Amino acid sequence: MSKPIKQIHLAAHFPGVNNTTVWSDPAAGSHIEFESFKRFARTAERAKFDFLFLAEGLRLREQGGKIYDLDVVGRPDTFTVLTALAAVTERIGLTGTINSTFNEPYEVARQFASLDHLSDGRAAWNVVTSWDAFTGENFRRGGYLAAEDRYARAETFLRTAWELFDSWDGYEIVADKESGVFLSDPRAGTFEHRDRHFDIAGRFNVPRSPQGRPVIFQAGDSDAGREFAASASDAIFGRHSTLEAGQAFYSDVKGRLARYGRAHEDLLILPAATFVLGDTDAEAQELAHEVRRAQVSGQTAIKHLEQLWNRDLSGYDPDGPLPEIDPDVSGESISKGRAADRLYRDRIAVANEWREEAAAKNLSIRELMIEKSAPQSFIGSAETVATRIDELVQADAADGFILVPHITPGGLDGFADTVVPILQERGRFRTEYTGTTLRDHLGLGQPRSDRYPDRSAAARSAEAAEAAEAAAVAQDTEAAGAAAETAGAAS
Ligand SMILES: Cc1cc2nc3c(=O)[nH]c(=O)nc-3n(C[C@H](O)[C@H](O)[C@H](O)COP(=O)(O)O)c2cc1C
Repeated sequence: MSKPIKQIHLAAHFPGVNNTTVWSDPAAGSHIEFESFKRFARTAERAKFDFLFLAEGLRLREQGGKIYDLDVVGRPDTFTVLTALAAVTERIGLTGTINSTFNEPYEVARQFASLDHLSDGRAAWNVVTSWDAFTGENFRRGGYLAAEDRYARAETFLRTAWELFDSWDGYEIVADKESGVFLSDPRAGTFEHRDRHFDIAGRFNVPRSPQGRPVIFQAGDSDAGREFAASASDAIFGRHSTLEAGQAFYSDVKGRLARYGRAHEDLLILPAATFVLGDTDAEAQELAHEVRRAQVSGQTAIKHLEQLWNRDLSGYDPDGPLPEIDPDVSGESISKGRAADRLYRDRIAVANEWREEAAAKNLSIRELMIEKSAPQSFIGSAETVATRIDELVQADAADGFILVPHITPGGLDGFADTVVPILQERGRFRTEYTGTTLRDHLGLGQPRSDRYPDRSAAARSAEAAEAAEAAAVAQDTEAAGAAAETAGAAS
C-alpha cells in the first residue's frame, strides 16, 4: 500500500529576539508596536496558516556585562499580545511560549484558559524549561532549580495545569434565570495537587474553555526534552529543518510515543525554518547571501565568536583570521541568557575545529561566522521552495514548518502571496479553514479529561440537566423553607 499524501502544516513565528531578524533593514518595522503584530497575524491568517507563534525570553541577554543589543531587544508580554490579537483575527491559532521554571501552574492555567475563551478555542502553550540562574534573578529565584530537574518540574507543572483545566467539565454553568440556579455541579473547579514542586488545593476560577485544554508544544532537544514531548505534547517546535537531521529527529521522537499509549499522529513535528525567495533560484541565492551579511555584520561576528571564546575579542578585525589565543574555560560564561551558549560543551575542541576550517577555506572571522550561524532553510523561487517543503513533509522529515521571516512585520508577505498558492494548487495545503479551533487546524482530537475520562458529551449534558433540575427543586424547597421562616419571624 502506498503511503498516504500528507497535508502540510504552516505557522508563522513573529520575528525578533534572535540574530536572524534584520532590524537594520530599511523595510523593518517595530517589534513592539501592536500594529506590527496585527499586520503579521493578519497576513498569516490570510494565508490560512495554522497558527502564529511567539517565542519568549524572560531577561534581556547580556554579553561581557552589557546588554546584547545586536539582536532585537525587548518584547511585550506574551498573553497581552496574544489576547489583543484574538480580537483582530478570527481563525488563526495563537501560540505562546511560557516557561515552566519561573511561573506557577494556577496562574498559567488561568491565563491559557482565558486566552482559549477569548479566542474561541485558538490557544496553544509552548512549554519551555529555561532554568538559568541569570534569568532566575528576575524572579528572586537565581539558581534555585538544578538543570537536571527542569523537565521533572515541567512535567508536573503541565500535569497540574491539566488538572486545573479539567476541574471544570463544561456543563456546570446552567444559569437558569427562572430557578435562579447558576451552577449545576457543586464540585466545579475543585482541585488538589500535592507533590515535591506544587502543594496546592482550592478552586479554579475559569470555566472549561472551548478546546478543554490548550494545544501543548514543546521546544528542547535533549533526551529528557524529547521524552517529555513524547509523553505530553501535541507538537514540537524543533530545530532540525534539513532532510537527514529532520528524519532522524522525527523517527526518534515518534518512536517514543508507543511507550505512552500514543499514536504516530498524536504528535506533530514542526521545525523552525527561515527562507529567502526570489524570482529565480539564482536571484534568491544572491539575496540570501546579502541577508546573511546583514544578519552577521562585522560587529555581530565578533560577538558570536566571543560566545565560544568566552573572552573579550573586540580588538580583533572581523575581516582577519581567528584568534591564536585559546578560549577561556576557567570561569563562567561571559554571555548570559542565551540557550545556545550551553551547546558549546568543549570550547577548545570546537575552537580548533573552527581554526582548521577557516584555514582550509581561507575564511575571515566574519566569513566563518556567516557559515557557522545557521544559513536559511529554504532558498529559491516560490516553485522551488514549495517543492522542497512538500518533499520534506512527505519524506517524514517534518509535518510542516514554523516560518521565521527576517523582516518584521512584512517578511511573510512574499511567502503568503507566492508559495502558499502553489501548495494550495497542488492540494497540499488548505484553501479555507475547515474548523474553528487550533485543534481542528492541526487535526488533533479533543483532549480526554482525566477527571471525566469515560463520559460522552451527550451523557455529561444529560447528567448536568438532571443535576440542575435537582438543584432547582432543592432551591425551591430551601426558598419555601426560608419564606416560611421569614413568615414565622414576622408573625
Ligand atoms: C527550537 C527551540 C526553540 C526554543 N525557544 C525557546 C524560547 O522561546 N524561550 C525559552 O525560554 N526557551 C526556548 N528554548 C529552550 C528550551 O525550552 C530549553 O530550555 C532548552 O532547549 C534546554 O532544554 P533541552 O536541554 O531539552 O534542549 C527553545 C529550544 C529549542 C530547541
